[in-house]
Amino acid sequence: MSVARYFDEMSYGPAPEADTEARAWLKRHEAGFGHFIGGTFVTPEGGQYFDAVDPSTGNILGRVAQGGADDVDKAGAAARKAQGPWAKLPGHARARHLYALARAVQRNARLLAVVEAIDNGKPIRETRDIDVPQVARHFYYHAGWAQLQASEFADQVPVGVVGQIIPWNFPLLMLAWKVAPALALGNTVVLKPAEFTSLTALLFAEIATEAGLPAGVLNVVTGDGSTGATLVGHGGIDKIAFTGSSEVGKLIREKTAGSGKSLTLELGGKSPFIVFDDADIDGAVEGVVDAIWFNQGQVCCAGSRLLVQEGIAETFLARLKRRMATLRVGMPLDKCIDMGAIVAPVQLERIKSLVATGVAEGAELFQPNIDLPKGGSFYPPTLLSNVHTAATVAREEIFGPVLVSMTFRTPDEGVMLANNTRYGLSASVWSETIGLALDIAPKLQAGVVWINATNLFDAAVGFGGYRESGYGREGGKEGAFEYLKPKAWSGRKARVVSEAVAEEVAVGGFDMPALDRTAKLFVGGKQARPDGNYSRAILSPKGVKVGEVGEGNRKDIRNAVAAARSAEGWGRATAHNRAQILYYLAENLSARAAEFAGRIAAMTGVSKAKAEAEIEACISRLFSYGAWADKFEGTVHTPPLRGVALAMNEPIGVVGVICPDEAPLLAFISLVAPLIAMGNRVVAVPSERHPLAVTDFYQIIETSDVPAGVINIVTGAARDLTKTLTEHDDVDALWVFGTKENATLAEKLSVGNLKRLLVDHGLLTDWFDGQAAEGPILLRHAVQVKNIWIPYGE
Ligand code: NAI
Repeated sequence: MSVARYFDEMSYGPAPEADTEARAWLKRHEAGFGHFIGGTFVTPEGGQYFDAVDPSTGNILGRVAQGGADDVDKAGAAARKAQGPWAKLPGHARARHLYALARAVQRNARLLAVVEAIDNGKPIRETRDIDVPQVARHFYYHAGWAQLQASEFADQVPVGVVGQIIPWNFPLLMLAWKVAPALALGNTVVLKPAEFTSLTALLFAEIATEAGLPAGVLNVVTGDGSTGATLVGHGGIDKIAFTGSSEVGKLIREKTAGSGKSLTLELGGKSPFIVFDDADIDGAVEGVVDAIWFNQGQVCCAGSRLLVQEGIAETFLARLKRRMATLRVGMPLDKCIDMGAIVAPVQLERIKSLVATGVAEGAELFQPNIDLPKGGSFYPPTLLSNVHTAATVAREEIFGPVLVSMTFRTPDEGVMLANNTRYGLSASVWSETIGLALDIAPKLQAGVVWINATNLFDAAVGFGGYRESGYGREGGKEGAFEYLKPKAWSGRKARVVSEAVAEEVAVGGFDMPALDRTAKLFVGGKQARPDGNYSRAILSPKGVKVGEVGEGNRKDIRNAVAAARSAEGWGRATAHNRAQILYYLAENLSARAAEFAGRIAAMTGVSKAKAEAEIEACISRLFSYGAWADKFEGTVHTPPLRGVALAMNEPIGVVGVICPDEAPLLAFISLVAPLIAMGNRVVAVPSERHPLAVTDFYQIIETSDVPAGVINIVTGAARDLTKTLTEHDDVDALWVFGTKENATLAEKLSVGNLKRLLVDHGLLTDWFDGQAAEGPILLRHAVQVKNIWIPYGE
């Protein structure tokens, strides 16, 4: 085309970024990339390779090693060997290493951006201006946590060797999100990149070594899902951090059950993009472009469900369609394109098939009449409107450039529709009325909420999901804790469970019998007879019957969960109000301290002094959580934009609590009090063997203004009740303290709705030790952080 014609048409010409350096790097590794283990490339043990393909052309870029068990072993061993010395380095030394990595990323920014674009298919504009700068920012930010580790995380130690499995949508950025905090805080890493996009991880490993990162600190094993599965099952790994599909996340949860490995999962989403009728329409249209056509929609937090208030729906969709017609789909290295290629033909097929299902189920399809490059995996920006809430495309993550739209009438209906999903990763709210936007944000079940914005990220602001979008956070201080564990929990010993005693039957005994007292259950603020009408005898260690409690069953759990669910208002009660009630519980327990101590001594066989000490500790603990209720608060972040991000500690919801046998009242209070202090409602199962102090506690609850349904108690067999609670899909989280078997059972069965878990793996907690059993150590598990981004300015 002649220059004159460009002037006439004012159309875009191609503006390709040079790829000379990237091609030269690929050429150097022409023979095939090995795994990166112990500071160098090593040939795969099995000798197998697969192709790295440019999705925009289908051309082969290089050969990547297929990792097997031997390779994972080797990488695990290298990481283990390096972990001790790496963790022992002073924080300042690790900070220098992370700083060097950040600088090295910046020095190699263009090469990284080009390799990322050709390997993944995304536009160079995004890799150059978003991915790579964010990668550098992550290493800078986490250099800071390394520097401050000794003071800011004094009561924590590194987790150890971490296996990290990442997806293909942001290959380098996901690497940074995982590797930077892990290394900063003294862990070493075995990373498995996604099979479609291994190249930038290998390039990064090379760059990191040049920047002086010691051998074995970061290892990269490439391969497909089977390599990932081998890593997950490997005995020499202390933690798995995974980002990817919900399906694989659930498999990993099941597979790691009982292994003692800690786990963070960052899974999919079906995030709402809510436009109120007072929104800046043009701004919101541009927001949609960013929400769903950024990275071809292959974004876990993509705003893929457009919810528009009815009054402006027609105008909004008309302007959106007009804007869609101006989007340019082109070759990834062209600097002037809006969208590049879909990562692989299989993903393209998946998108096509889901769109076909959407249309078959009644959606109206709109695709602008724009050119797509020939040959590679390309798909146009797509809008499916008039979608009904039960439609497949409204529920399933499409992971492509496909937006589904619906309308709502009132703000309440908007919130209901927004939350009508099993996911909860992000949400975007558009309104010019700040009061409305800030009222809606806390009501959305999502880990990140953007107000009049979308897809904003920063290393200082945590990112992660609610519900089936996974658990754990990446970024921010909350993300740093994911790579640490409390010192006070490090030396815990396995709990010794003694044999149950047989009942001593008293002979003779024509004296006046004690007045029969069979404890009921406590559900919805009332004492309730167990559904099965069975009770169980509670024996002292000598076998003397000291009372009976109701035998709770599935139906009782169901009632208790329903009562807890309907006490939702507790989460919205003021922190001051929750604090008052915790103090009041302490006051009422204190008034009956002697009676409770007597009960504990008779039931457990401990000395009177020990029993009295337990009650004193209970009173003090209730006071502590009264204190924390209005002090364990969020943070205001000031990320690099004009605006703030509010990190709010929100309650998780309904939490099941399985209590251990030791220190039966203190353990119960130590677990229940932090949860209710933070606004959760609980269904607690007291110690199976020694439940009577907790059943006596009903009266304390009844006289302390605890709203009905906030604390529910079901006595009975710990194992059966753990199983029922874990399988209940309306329970959001589970704290399991007791036998190892119970912990494993809970981990395995929690996959249904991906409950957040806190389990002790059968290790004994000293409930009298404030370091191990009180304060932020538990409060952090009692909340989920929601980050609300509020940009401002005209
Ligand atoms: P995937 O979940 O299978 O892959 C993610 C990573 O997990 C890759 O590194 C893969 O090799 C690894 N992996 C696969 N199976 C594994 C196993 N059994 N054990 C351990 N690791 C395993 O995702 P995939 O197949 O690439 O994409 C399928 C769909 O998943 C997409 O269409 C999209 O809907 C969703 N997805 C969501 C992502 C997110 O960030 N939310 C990221 C990638 C995919």
